[in-house]
Amino acid sequence: MRKNMYSQRYCSFPATRLRRLRNRDYIRRLVRENNLLPSDLVAPMFIQEGKNVKEAIPSMPGVYRLSIDLAIQETKLLSSKGVPAVILFPSVPVRLKTASGNESYNSAGLVQNAIKRIKEAVPKIGIISDVALDPYTTHGHDGLINDDGDVLNDETIDVLVRQSISQAEAGIDIVAPSDMMDGRVGAIRTALDARGFEGVKILAYSAKYSSSFYGPFRDAIGSAKNIGPLSKKTYQMDPGNSREAIREVALDIAEGADMVMVKPGMPYLDIVTRVKEEFGVPTFAYQVSGEYSMIKAASQNGWLDEKSAVLESLLCFKRAGTDGVLSYFTKNVIDWLHESGDL
Ligand code: PBG
Repeated sequence: MRKNMYSQRYCSFPATRLRRLRNRDYIRRLVRENNLLPSDLVAPMFIQEGKNVKEAIPSMPGVYRLSIDLAIQETKLLSSKGVPAVILFPSVPVRLKTASGNESYNSAGLVQNAIKRIKEAVPKIGIISDVALDPYTTHGHDGLINDDGDVLNDETIDVLVRQSISQAEAGIDIVAPSDMMDGRVGAIRTALDARGFEGVKILAYSAKYSSSFYGPFRDAIGSAKNIGPLSKKTYQMDPGNSREAIREVALDIAEGADMVMVKPGMPYLDIVTRVKEEFGVPTFAYQVSGEYSMIKAASQNGWLDEKSAVLESLLCFKRAGTDGVLSYFTKNVIDWLHESGDL
């Protein structure tokens, strides 16, 4: 605020009473700086093999692994509610997991089929797919490992490129590399362009932290037990760092990322703000599984009011500067926004 904007008299009590702009609902709505809209939300969806299968995920009450036919129904519903995009995560059967994660680029694989079928049934919604090997590896890491258990960077990139191409061939709109290998965005961009997929967008998980809040997700895709004593700390970021996030984002943009993401969400909103201020590119954040489960568990115990806690948390993502939020609450949120008369 410019210093000379107000004389001293109007900057102080009693001439100034900030509560005047809070004392009725209409005025609060009128002066609100940020609002949450259906177009701010991306719905994550867990998919699995089979037909008419809806499997509960115990650590994420209210979230299910869906077979593709049910995922199509769900996507139709989300699209009719104004959700611009969904992001797919596969729960891959153990028999298809290998040390090298080759199933990730099977053109007839679960994700590739889901992309084709959802695209056909709901052409207007955007489809995002995760690019990383963890759903496909026996060890649960996002990349290839050597005999010492080290995650190999450049070798992994080759597989991620194949995975991205197979998703592009299936009709993906946006690929979202979540693996945190160095240099993968540039390699994926080059490979997509070389094959005529210059319209496929890249949403880079640029500042992805090594976080305890991914626990329930690992249950959902069945990679939790596999990680063992090896954590993802050698490739995901250290929670103590923020300047490093700026370097990660700068590199990804230079390599061709169209949009960037910060993950997890709520404990990392300072990073969102810094990234948005520094680069001004479309910036997303992921309200991850652990954030979902915390709010859900507290609500189920009657310790939090679910609707208001969720709406508040998502509005805070907007205030921090996100252009969009990936949230497991998406469907409910839109219903709540309608109920509240905010839409
Ligand atoms: C892995 C991936 C993870 C999530 C999205 N992609 C987990 C991980 O890095 O172990 C987490 C999402 C969530 O917790 O909701 N490539």
